[in-house]
Amino acid sequence: MSKKKVKKFYLVKGFKDILPEDQLHWEFVRSKFFNVARSYGYDRIDLPILEDSKLFVKGVGNLTDVVSKEMFTFETLGNEKVSLRPEGTTGTVRAYIEHGMVNRKKPVKMFYMGPMFRYDKPQAGRYRQFYQFGLEVFAEEDPIIDSQMIYMTYQLFDELKIPVVIKINSIGCPKCREKFLKTLKDYLKKNKSKLCKDCQIRYNKNILRVLDCKEKKCREIVLEAPQILDHLCDDCNKHFVKVLEYLEDSQINYELDPFIVRGLDYYNRTTFEVLPTEEFCGGDSGSQNALAGGGRYDYLVKNLGGQSTPAIGMAFGMDRIVNALKKVKDLELSNINTSDVFVAQLGDKARKKVLVLFEKLRRAGFSISESISKTSLGQQLEEANRLKTRLALIIGEKELLDKTVLIRDMESGNQEVVPENKIESVLELRLKSLDISVKKVRMR
Ligand code: HAM
Repeated sequence: MSKKKVKKFYLVKGFKDILPEDQLHWEFVRSKFFNVARSYGYDRIDLPILEDSKLFVKGVGNLTDVVSKEMFTFETLGNEKVSLRPEGTTGTVRAYIEHGMVNRKKPVKMFYMGPMFRYDKPQAGRYRQFYQFGLEVFAEEDPIIDSQMIYMTYQLFDELKIPVVIKINSIGCPKCREKFLKTLKDYLKKNKSKLCKDCQIRYNKNILRVLDCKEKKCREIVLEAPQILDHLCDDCNKHFVKVLEYLEDSQINYELDPFIVRGLDYYNRTTFEVLPTEEFCGGDSGSQNALAGGGRYDYLVKNLGGQSTPAIGMAFGMDRIVNALKKVKDLELSNINTSDVFVAQLGDKARKKVLVLFEKLRRAGFSISESISKTSLGQQLEEANRLKTRLALIIGEKELLDKTVLIRDMESGNQEVVPENKIESVLELRLKSLDISVKKVRMR
């Protein structure tokens, strides 16, 4: 036999597996998101992972880091230039236009969840494939929607027990921004040579991005820069004042931050980012750690070929939220790996019976589990305990002969023998009396 070493394969840099032991946290976060999204009237949309590269170039902006440096772009066998989606807003806008959603009842609210791809420098909390949960609202201009989104976000983090601060800004509209950008350019001119290489390019091509730069030397320079909030036109100012007014008595932890200009080009007016509090993350709550971010993008639908449609949205970084959740001390995760009823067997004939009984009970809607490959009853009951199952059904030689099932309360150890044809109704009664009937979901 050849002793040639077999090549082992490893994860591609910046990519990761979400292992079974992490699923509890992920499931917890997902279910909170779904719950909130549905309560606030959002409908789910699933978008493709691959889109025409030009969609992102036009939508997100070709001077943004996301598009100019971080896209996974390639040519298909049919010579189409496509990219793995770096974010979900542009895809949602494409779908909104493509499916004529402009004719739907307004506002059109949609949520999505799934992987995004950015060829970023991998580090803690920064991956090349990461998961976002996104919310988008189309055809609603009212500032109450901005405030509600911010308020809802804060409540969601409160429920997750992750203390956050929400940084809010307004970056105005093209009209008020034009004047501001001139003032900003005048200010930055004298420090241009001290800016990082990227910002020197941004200075000429997309100067607002300089305010968003994470480089220390650029951050120091922009600290004293003129602020866009002082340059808002009347309409943008009124909108922003209203957003803040609605939040006035909400008791949420927010701050005005003139540097929240966001890293994507489609924003206007309200922008915001959610950061863990410094206390929670041990001092480093820079925007590299943002748990979520979003804002208005009233011009994007038109820019991508649709009718002029105001819109606002945001996305949560699920990987970072799961990482933060792991630091929460008194978190009670409802264990998804539990069941109400465990079916155990003793002997080969009983196994055959359990094969069928298990499926019958599963179809009847019981939350049920088994360990049919094990022959020892002790091992099976151990598994029932691990899954925190309250009731175990046991079928052995005697039960087979008598056409009965033994029900064992795993907590008290009490046992009762029930005729096989009454098992469903008895189980239902027993679970009800234990107050765990809520877990039973009828599938029929
Ligand atoms: P974004 O700020 O680029 O916004 O991303 C939203 C969130 O995704 C971030 O706050 C962060 O938690 C997470 N995230 C971003 N990049 C990474 C990464 N490399 N690794 C891990 N997590 C990451 C958007 O994507 C906009 N589409 C949000 C939006 C929706 N605006 C309007 N509608």
